[in-house]
Amino acid sequence: MVLRLEEAHKVLPVESPKDLVPKFFDETAESYDKVVSRSTFGKDKYWKKEIIRRITDGDSFLDLACGTGILTREIARKFPNSKIVGIDITEGYLDVAKKNSKSYHNIIFLQQDAEKLNLKEKFDCITSSYLAKYCDPEILVKVCIDHLNPGGKIIFHDFTYPKNHPGRIAWDMIFIMLKLVGYFIPSWKKAFSDLPKLIRSSKWLHNYEKIMKNHSLKVEQQSFSWNSSVILVGVKAE
Ligand SMILES: C[S@@+](CC[C@H](N)C(=O)[O-])C[C@H]1O[C@@H](n2cnc3c(N)ncnc32)[C@H](O)[C@@H]1O
Repeated sequence: MVLRLEEAHKVLPVESPKDLVPKFFDETAESYDKVVSRSTFGKDKYWKKEIIRRITDGDSFLDLACGTGILTREIARKFPNSKIVGIDITEGYLDVAKKNSKSYHNIIFLQQDAEKLNLKEKFDCITSSYLAKYCDPEILVKVCIDHLNPGGKIIFHDFTYPKNHPGRIAWDMIFIMLKLVGYFIPSWKKAFSDLPKLIRSSKWLHNYEKIMKNHSLKVEQQSFSWNSSVILVGVKAE
């Protein structure tokens, strides 16, 4: 029996990137900081330093999908006199972020969906680390531009699938290893098995770059660690 594509979609459940968000993150907040550091072999810290390096000035910052607040606190440390808002869709992650940020009086954490963001204020810089691949680029770029001051900067950072053969072999091996680790840490099993498929199929970099340019942002990008991660920066005209 041959199913037409639209019939197949009715029969087979199709998980969109956004459907994966609760499956990856509802039960993982408490262990996230350790897992992201170890599973990236410490590179997460380096990539976040590179994001921070690209934030050169500003009085107000918005960190989308702030998670447990690793990047949010780095921004607060670099700009202690500014206002920083961290938003995330997952309550458990925000609970950890608030618990770990008690000594930072310039950070506010809010539970919101980045795609439906409505803060009624604008920021000098909007960051996001590991959010882009879960969102609709048209919606997210538009939301960011609406919340950005003239001359402001949007920084998207996320994983990419390496382009060259040795990079791909090393990357595939790491995710095979993480998939095995997932059998011993049930809360991470779904993420470790489905994240590689998501990253391989994601066109986030191409799509966000194109849409940012269509909105007249000045865009540049840099890739890191054998092309396994990219920072994409867009600057709004003054
Ligand atoms: C891998 S964690 C990254 C956390 C943090 N940015 C970091 O780099 O450590 C991904 C986060 O994205 C959040 N997230 C995913 N989709 C979101 C959305 N539409 N709006 C807000 N947060 C979202 C999840 O709840 C999760 O906390």
